[in-house]
Amino acid sequence: MPHDDDVLKAGAAGAARLTRRRLLARSLAGSLAAPIAAPLVSGPLAGCATEVARPQASASAGAPADATTPPRFRVAFGSCAKQSKPQPIWRAIGEARPDLFVFLGDNLYADARDEATLRQRYAEFMAVEPLQAFRRSTPHLAIWDDHDFGDDDEGADYPLKQLSQQLFCDAWGEPADSPRRRADGIYTSQVFEAFGRRIQVILPDLRFNRTMLTTDPSLKSSYAAMVLRAKLSGQPMTGWYVPDPRPEATILGEAQWQWLEAQLRVPADVRLIGSSVQFAAEGSGWECWANFPRERARLIELIRTTGAQGVVFLSGDMHYAELSSVEVDGGYPLWDATSSGLTEVWDIPTPNRNRRSAVMAEVNFGIVDIEPVTEGEDDLRLRLALCDVNGKAKATKDLLLSDLRRHAKEKTA
Ligand SMILES: [Fe+2]
Repeated sequence: MPHDDDVLKAGAAGAARLTRRRLLARSLAGSLAAPIAAPLVSGPLAGCATEVARPQASASAGAPADATTPPRFRVAFGSCAKQSKPQPIWRAIGEARPDLFVFLGDNLYADARDEATLRQRYAEFMAVEPLQAFRRSTPHLAIWDDHDFGDDDEGADYPLKQLSQQLFCDAWGEPADSPRRRADGIYTSQVFEAFGRRIQVILPDLRFNRTMLTTDPSLKSSYAAMVLRAKLSGQPMTGWYVPDPRPEATILGEAQWQWLEAQLRVPADVRLIGSSVQFAAEGSGWECWANFPRERARLIELIRTTGAQGVVFLSGDMHYAELSSVEVDGGYPLWDATSSGLTEVWDIPTPNRNRRSAVMAEVNFGIVDIEPVTEGEDDLRLRLALCDVNGKAKATKDLLLSDLRRHAKEKTA
């Protein structure tokens, strides 16, 4: 997101212990990237492999496990952590005792146009002790967004992207032979098993292959005045990007599309797609899938045609938190829980036609709790929560897996 600081100034304990230790070992060995079991997908479509981890279900966060504690798999997530700022939020996230944390990008702010700066920013990131201590104690996966890919709103044309790919993989502990080091992007996926169910986390790379964004020059040139006006009026303010309808405009690139289709065909009950920019939101004028309407429609159609059930998006980038959803013709609603602002906060209202919650303009992180509805029943509850720096949930939404399964054979006319 193209906000700069100047403008901003203006304007499951016991039961989970083995699991956490196992996952942490994997995490320290390489961001959960080294194989636990044979990859489910191999060959040229694999790109970055899907693997299976088999954690036991966790107990309620922060509470001692006992025989009466219901099983649960807790995924926490967040984005946008500036390495030069204090990061007290890691304490609250740690106290939530997630089974997995997903870093959704802008995990540091490199904002680099030269090699020395890029290397220096990654060194600064590795020296942020609260964040690194959290990484040592909590299993995690990571994807990048623009600022840790390289610079504000960058895409395929970023000149240092190959170096950035290696620095990312070094910082996140990817082994020397990791596919993430040599693929056309750092996309990755992993399946976790909990209480006999399969939870897949898919992390597409939205930067490495992304076509340059289309800008409305009049909006960009009057940006400072717009910020001031929005600050004074409290009225929503759009960003300066407009949709690019051209067939050749892409976010993922064709190889990654083939990989993603293969991932959506991997057996799983729940699929969390970690998208570094918002998927469901429309009308913000900032970076989001809606800026590439053909790509967004292609993913919606791919979810429908693969029959992938239980898809929920987790997203970042916006410097605030909110819940959005988009209705799908011939399919089930696609929910998108945006958590952005591990340190960064944007307090000017932004349009979003698909917003389903209040906007949380404060430091935040997100949680998805996945748990059986009733013992012996097939259904699962997905509880989305957006939490503040003290771990207090400010927005929540309960979804049932049974409501995330509908696929019509044919779309309605
Ligand atoms: Fe971003």
